[in-house]
Amino acid sequence: MSRRPFVAGNWKMNCTLVEARELMSGLRKLVQPGIPVDVAVCTPFTLLYPMGRELDGTDIKLGAQNCYFESKGAFTGETSAAMLKAANVEYVIIGHSERRQIFGESGDLLRSKVKACLDGGMSVIYCVGELLEQRDAGSTTDVIGRQLAEGLGDDLDHGRLTIAYEPVWAIGTGRTATPDQAQEVHAFIRERMAGLFGADAGNTMRIQYGGSVKPGNAAELMACPDVDGALVGGASLVAEDFASIILASAAAVSR
Ligand code: 13P
Repeated sequence: MSRRPFVAGNWKMNCTLVEARELMSGLRKLVQPGIPVDVAVCTPFTLLYPMGRELDGTDIKLGAQNCYFESKGAFTGETSAAMLKAANVEYVIIGHSERRQIFGESGDLLRSKVKACLDGGMSVIYCVGELLEQRDAGSTTDVIGRQLAEGLGDDLDHGRLTIAYEPVWAIGTGRTATPDQAQEVHAFIRERMAGLFGADAGNTMRIQYGGSVKPGNAAELMACPDVDGALVGGASLVAEDFASIILASAAAVSR
């Protein structure tokens, strides 16, 4: 089964407008239109409109890092799906481990957010991943299975859903999962997605790996049969590194 790779940069809470313009000007030069990879940059909210304009004429899509599930009203500090859609956002990251851990987002809340984004016409990158102590205790697939079941329901428009497997111990630590570790969890996720949405969806759904993906390890991770791209944090803030990861994904398809 060949799935078109999907590489997304998660800028997290980084970049002023000046810094973002510089990063984007590098990306525009390095990521040529027509590359056989879907590419997105998920910027902070303040950068969505200006970066949307900078992406005009490129094949790079705009993404956000969060979205509230209510449509409007007295929710200080929050942003709705309609607001993101109006800013030309195509992808929204939901369930990142930093949202789960630092901001205490629960499975129920995440499920509402996933649904609001899909109903609002955007695509969702739904993140799952285990802590180091959970891996050491042998409960990785229990944790991932629970996160998938809590955040996703069979009523969702799964055609616009991507799953990102991000082991928490690999995020920002420089320590990445081995290709075997990634492949094992990705195959498990694919099986669960086939169970929830049907065999076709299991085959076509893209599953990204995230956690210290760098130019030096991207090729071996992308070579895994069930790894369909990457969700990149730190390396997405360096145009050359992000472009090199995109090229590694393109090379994995043409093998
Ligand atoms: P790093 O690539 O910096 O480890 O971050 C991964 C991540 O959390 C992407 O969402």
